[in-house]
Amino acid sequence: MLLITGASGGLGSLIARRAADHPGHPDGIRFGTRAPDGPGQVRVDFDDPDSLDFTGVDTLLLISAGYGEDDRVIARHGAAVSAAERDGVRHVVYTSLTGAGDHLPYALPHRWTERRLRGSALAWTVLRNGLYAELLGALAAPGPDGVITAPLGAGRLAAVAREDLAEVALGVALAPDAHAGQVYELVGDRPLGGAELAAAVGARYAPGSLAEARTALSGPDAAPFQPPMLVTTYSAIAAGFLDTPDTGTLRRLLGRSPRPALEVYAKTAAASGV
Ligand SMILES: NC(=O)c1ccc[n+]([C@@H]2O[C@H](COP(=O)([O-])OP(=O)(O)OC[C@H]3O[C@@H](n4cnc5c(N)ncnc54)[C@H](OP(=O)(O)O)[C@@H]3O)[C@@H](O)[C@H]2O)c1
Repeated sequence: MLLITGASGGLGSLIARRAADHPGHPDGIRFGTRAPDGPGQVRVDFDDPDSLDFTGVDTLLLISAGYGEDDRVIARHGAAVSAAERDGVRHVVYTSLTGAGDHLPYALPHRWTERRLRGSALAWTVLRNGLYAELLGALAAPGPDGVITAPLGAGRLAAVAREDLAEVALGVALAPDAHAGQVYELVGDRPLGGAELAAAVGARYAPGSLAEARTALSGPDAAPFQPPMLVTTYSAIAAGFLDTPDTGTLRRLLGRSPRPALEVYAKTAAASGV
């Protein structure tokens, strides 16, 4: 059986939708989520390690549970891997972060999890996902005045459509043996910068400073870890650390060209309602 965790999240729900339609595996896939309420769904909450039960699971598609301080995220992923070892899971497919993101503080729990898997007796595959085009749509949408002030400077991001990452993740998880021991860098094929984003949505690009962004992000509803997470994302893009395009891995695993990230950006930015 294949168990997909995080099935209600943005990435997990795309994978689950594809998996539900997949011919030949109608009963062989379960969808793990903290609050199950649909067919094939089972409760999986890494914050409740004693409740984890992966009995009968052959392949675990472990969607990272990345929101929180490092110790919390590491504890979650550690609990998942330990339960996989205990319950006889054969192969873990883990959604990580692109190596180009090593300057981002939230890379640390991803690298910890990769190291934990490498040191285990489990078979594993690491999907090093690039930053989503959808994330860019949220972080660099124009304001009501039609101006994009996201502090991207002259930097560009090799953003990738989340749907492409879902497609690759499911494909790998359904045939894991062919991908054992592989670390795949999954980034977009065309880096996008502020001016290009603005042109795509009929906006003007006038990047602000990181300090202004930090102030804007530090509202009363923000968890303490959130502003640094987002500000360092802007900073890494602006400094040019995230602009290396796909060298063919994503295209090869998809078996076609990646979805155009600029279109995904424009659609997400429009849906953000500003
Ligand atoms: N590459 C990028 O641009 C990017 C952007 C944002 C996040 N990420 C990372 O990639 C992951 C998936 O992205 P996403 O877009 O699907 O994020 P999302 O929509 O915010 O979903 C968060 C995910 O974390 C899971 N989760 C949270 N707490 C959990 C827990 N205690 N136990 C088990 N699962 C837990 C959720 O599962 P349920 O709700 O189903 O329980 C859900 O799948 C994120 O969690 C984060 O680590 C990557």
